Amino acid sequence: MTERKRILTGIRPTGALHLGHYAGALENWVRLQYEYEAYFLIADYQVSDYADDISRVRDSVWEVALDWLGVGLDPERSSFFIESLIPEHAELTTLLGWFLPVSMLERNPTLKAEMVAMENPEDGSQERKPVPVAFYTYPVMQVANILMPRAHLVPVGEDQLPHIELTRETARRFNHRFKEVFPEPEALVGRVPRLVGTDGNAKMSKSRGNTIDLKDDAETVARKIKKMYAGPPRELDEPGKVEENPIFLYLDAFDPDVEEVSELKRKYETAGLGNKVLKDRLTEVLNTKLDPFRERRAKYEANMPLVREALEAGTKRMRTIAQETMEMVRDALDMRYLERY
Ligand code: TRP
Repeated sequence: MTERKRILTGIRPTGALHLGHYAGALENWVRLQYEYEAYFLIADYQVSDYADDISRVRDSVWEVALDWLGVGLDPERSSFFIESLIPEHAELTTLLGWFLPVSMLERNPTLKAEMVAMENPEDGSQERKPVPVAFYTYPVMQVANILMPRAHLVPVGEDQLPHIELTRETARRFNHRFKEVFPEPEALVGRVPRLVGTDGNAKMSKSRGNTIDLKDDAETVARKIKKMYAGPPRELDEPGKVEENPIFLYLDAFDPDVEEVSELKRKYETAGLGNKVLKDRLTEVLNTKLDPFRERRAKYEANMPLVREALEAGTKRMRTIAQETMEMVRDALDMRYLERY
């Protein structure tokens, strides 16, 4: 049997997953699990911004696992694992931190934007928080996550690209200075790098409350779409601009009938087309897409010990690899101090 290349990717357990996660990443994961040896991480060490709400993190570990199972990640084929149950991640983070200049974190655009948002929340719904040390260094831990299984490919959302670049740089430095231990992993972004929120905001995100969640039932999806922002106000027979109406972005992202969507766009721009027609169509398209996910999720939800077994088995497989990698790292760094005498 030829060795398959490895995938490492993950998500922080801070809430239910939504359509943005799906179109930006999960869809790729499901497809790639057949070609790669895949490791899916629940990054519970990286929740310093939720440290005062660990019960939410604890619940979200299960929510994330259920969402994964729902969309069709297969725990027989891939490994689901919980970061803090493999403390080697903390150890590798410490060691890799030796080789990463602070200036590289200071330049990381994703980290920069997140820290600014934390210190200056733009709406009243969120509290202004100081940035914890662990938040500042989470990209280093993400580097450790990816290098731990010596992964080749990291399928992620667009916002994660700076972290993958940091990972490649760290792998290059380590391999060059010590021993060839780590492959330089490639990033892969999903079909829809950034899905707009239902409020028309640039990004779907749970903190903004503008998400359609993978586990939302059909009525919830219908209700959210009914309230969805659909461009500037128009009369029914007044032509509109497709690019001003995010419903079309969703249809482009999820409607399999591409020709019908271009026909709708044509009508919208010439004769005018009521938003209800578009919203009804989108509701149907999304519910058709989500139905099988919801069904599979419900089956697992009725049998949670099966979910626990998936997490346990995956964590065990990853732990073995982590210990192997740490041996290689300590060997490369010449850290076997006690073996001297
Ligand atoms: N930072 C990622 C996010 O917020 C989650 C994550 C942690 C991750 N470690 C990772 C993603 C390693 C890919 C690879 O979504």
